Amino acid sequence: MEEFKRAVAREALRFVEDDMIVGLGTGSTTAYFIEALGKLIMEGELEDVYGVPTSYQARLLAIESGVPVLGLDQVDAIDIAVDGADEVDPHLNLIKGRGAALTMEKIIEYRAGTFLVLVDESKLVERLGQKMPVPIEVIPSAWRAIAEEIEVFNATAELRMASKKDGPVITDNGNFILDARFHRIEDPLDLEIELNNIPGVVENGIFADIADVVLVGTEEGVKRLER
Ligand code: 5RP
Repeated sequence: MEEFKRAVAREALRFVEDDMIVGLGTGSTTAYFIEALGKLIMEGELEDVYGVPTSYQARLLAIESGVPVLGLDQVDAIDIAVDGADEVDPHLNLIKGRGAALTMEKIIEYRAGTFLVLVDESKLVERLGQKMPVPIEVIPSAWRAIAEEIEVFNATAELRMASKKDGPVITDNGNFILDARFHRIEDPLDLEIELNNIPGVVENGIFADIADVVLVGTEEGVKRLER
């Protein structure tokens, strides 16, 4: 799997040109991309390229790798955003947020001229929710009320607990994460909108109709899927 991730990250570099502002995603696959991008910048192969990180993880790695970073409020536009995903359906709808960075990811990826997704083939599913829950970032004091609201959608929601800290995961924005398992997601776009209508929900991890290109690492090489 690591070799597939490296292969898609290398392929993603072909999409980056001089003078571009690049949204930097979060997770282990994008980490390979950020490191490789930094190498090209440091070697002078790419000029005037800046990264806009979607998380502290991406920001720290970009700085360490030699990618100059800017905040979202310092750029007029984002040319391309590159990020991983937890699930990809045949229409290129995604579930994201295993790394709890879904809110900044969605803000940056929604604004990008091109949103490029990097996955290995284990992430391809027939229907969203088949393997992974939908992460939902919520205002901390509202978590129980929102978990109850989510049951109306024939789903169960669990508060995500931290592993190297006592208590719940706290996002980069200071919020909690609920992981929601739905019986069956029929219409991802509809569910994405409905979940965001619940007061106290900051953002959810369904990314419907937003990915432009998905690069998939497989045994046979990198496959390119387009909407
Ligand atoms: C973080 C994410 C990640 O992009 C997603 O979980 C994929 O990560 P990885 O490349 O490590 O499998 O959404 O919030």
